[in-house]
Amino acid sequence: MQILITCPFWCASLLTKELKRLNLPLIESHPTAVLSEWTWKDIYRINLWSRIANKVYAVMWEESITNFDQLFDFILSLNWNSLFIQTTQFSLHATCKNSQIMSEKSLVSVAHKAILTSLNILEDTKTDPEKSQEVFLFMSGNNLKVCINTSWASLHQRWWRTQTGPAPLKENLAAAIILLSWWKFNKPLIDPFCGSGTIAVEAALLARNIAPWKHRKFAFQQFKNFDFNIWNEILLDAKNSEYNNNYQIVARDIDEKVLGYAKINAENAWVSDCISFEHQDFQSGLMLFEWDFWLITNPPYWKRLNANEDLAPLYEKLADYLKECYGGIISSYPWMWKLFNSKHFSHKQLYNWADEVEFYRKKPV
Ligand SMILES: C[S@@+](CC[C@H](N)C(=O)[O-])C[C@H]1O[C@@H](n2cnc3c(N)ncnc32)[C@H](O)[C@@H]1O
Repeated sequence: MQILITCPFWCASLLTKELKRLNLPLIESHPTAVLSEWTWKDIYRINLWSRIANKVYAVMWEESITNFDQLFDFILSLNWNSLFIQTTQFSLHATCKNSQIMSEKSLVSVAHKAILTSLNILEDTKTDPEKSQEVFLFMSGNNLKVCINTSWASLHQRWWRTQTGPAPLKENLAAAIILLSWWKFNKPLIDPFCGSGTIAVEAALLARNIAPWKHRKFAFQQFKNFDFNIWNEILLDAKNSEYNNNYQIVARDIDEKVLGYAKINAENAWVSDCISFEHQDFQSGLMLFEWDFWLITNPPYWKRLNANEDLAPLYEKLADYLKECYGGIISSYPWMWKLFNSKHFSHKQLYNWADEVEFYRKKPV
């Protein structure tokens, strides 16, 4: 059977690499999702290990659907009661692409009615997000895949980030840019605008091979067929594959309060011992290392921080540094392309929440 894994825009190639590491095949790739094959064990492993995924869905049923009558009959015929839903509370959403059924709203409404009928629920009760099971209807052409969310809340919300400063980077996007910047774990990494420490903490977790999701509950743990022994084995394997090496990661910020948040977050993730936190203004501070280091950062930009000051000098200095070291910058600063417009840089469009951003990265030599 198939598994559908969603991810931030344009991160599907990184997700595909994660699947490869878990020995899972790629069946199909979309800009915000990939399809693979699954067993329940694989579903547990991807949920635990993916640094890039948003949600992991098990494709339970699929059918060719061209009209709403067909849709109702098909959804009604599925065995909702006995399979995976312990609770009768559920939420539904849908996407359609190039299909005869074009309205996502009507798709959800008809499917909703059919599930209630199938479960013999006369009145729709208010759903509690903690208990409710998410069903996702994925229509590509006239092929309808009925998918069950096995993750619960989006996997980008890491357990350790209890504190955030202004304009935080999504955690899976931070992991994505670290991977895209080809950081070598034995080289120092610095984030001079660390905010709540997202890049520094994700880098430390990555270098120490700590599963991003070892402390949370997943939807699959509520399923009737949940295999506690397999899950415990996977957790134990993850624990045994962690490294305890020290890495040189430096997190700096001009705002002392925000830097305090970064420290708390790193302590939550048990990686504060490999990150140095330094209260410093990038404009006046000196870089610590010789040139063989990685600078990966998300500097302030107007759109999210509403900054009035002229940020041009700050970006010019960043561009000067990046000529000499490695890494990259994620931002939507309007003149970035001018500063990084050379053969030494490549750029990739990404989304931080709903904001379109660019990631400019130094090409390896
Ligand atoms: C976009 S936020 C970084 C958010 C961070 N990536 C996160 O996930 O929380 C930019 C950060 O730059 C800091 N900052 C602004 N000007 C600075 C300067 N001149 N030197 C150092 N840090 C500065 C701000 O305090 C803010 O925390």
